[in-house]
Amino acid sequence: MRWAEIKVTARPLAAETVASILIEEGCRGAAIASPSASFDGEVQVSGYLPVDDLFEERVRSQAKRIRDMPRFFDVATGSLEITVRPVDEIEWSEAWRAHYKPLVFGKVVVQPSWEHYDPQPDQVVVQIDPGMAFGTGQHPTTALCLLALQEHVRAGNVVADVGTGSGILAIAAAKLGARRVYAIDADSVAVHVAEQNVERNGLEGTIEVREANSPSEIPECVDVLVANIVADVIMDMAEQAAAALKPGGIMISSGIVRERAPDAIRKLESAGLETLKTSEDGSWIAVHSRKLEGSV
Ligand SMILES: C[S@@+](CC[C@H](N)C(=O)[O-])C[C@H]1O[C@@H](n2cnc3c(N)ncnc32)[C@H](O)[C@@H]1O
Repeated sequence: MRWAEIKVTARPLAAETVASILIEEGCRGAAIASPSASFDGEVQVSGYLPVDDLFEERVRSQAKRIRDMPRFFDVATGSLEITVRPVDEIEWSEAWRAHYKPLVFGKVVVQPSWEHYDPQPDQVVVQIDPGMAFGTGQHPTTALCLLALQEHVRAGNVVADVGTGSGILAIAAAKLGARRVYAIDADSVAVHVAEQNVERNGLEGTIEVREANSPSEIPECVDVLVANIVADVIMDMAEQAAAALKPGGIMISSGIVRERAPDAIRKLESAGLETLKTSEDGSWIAVHSRKLEGSV
């Protein structure tokens, strides 16, 4: 696989949004260089994009969304200069590793597999090497799920992680006490990465990873289903997700931008999933729903 680095210069307050755009538009990883180093100056955001059939289209949509940012942003975005250059796979993974540090979400710590971390007694550690898959904990949509899992997963639960990416949420659910976790992803590369991370955390006996694109392929009804994908995919799979839950089971839907939240909530509710609450991080919303008792 050939890779390209997309580098964007932006003011620190705009850098997170640039990183989100790069990831939403196909980058497998994005890093902000020393965001706190110069608050008034500009920082560099780097994303790594596979050079495949979709490459040109993805670069075009990244550039369009980044150049549109000043129209929607109420603080200065900076110059938003974009450069694209080829990188080899080794350079990609080394650049990525240099920026990726342990992150703490409530009692869950996401630890890059090559970093040392001494956990506190009440912390659970999820060791991750994201490889070419999405799911480092750096993206707000993943963070919302990691916090929501801590609210809803009880010891002995059966959990499904739909769109597992690196396996981060499945591993967190298992470490929070789930006795069985089904982790599915439509992308074979993600499935491979997730399997490696499950092994890295010694959870082969608890987490089953498989390539699948619908909750209807989960082999038993679950207490908690988490799906961090995008609003349209979540809406498309709302009925199958509801069917995969036990009555009273919890669905955590993430990857939903604020403007799409009302549509997503309507669709989840019409599938029999009552809204308990929403949680948010910037422009991202996670919907916490419960399958109505008495539903099948
Ligand atoms: C945003 S990433 C989330 C990764 C990880 N769960 C996290 O929270 O960081 C979304 C993942 O969903 C997968 N995906 C997209 N559509 C899917 C579908 N219909 N069924 C299963 N997985 C899907 C993608 O391949 C990708 O790995």
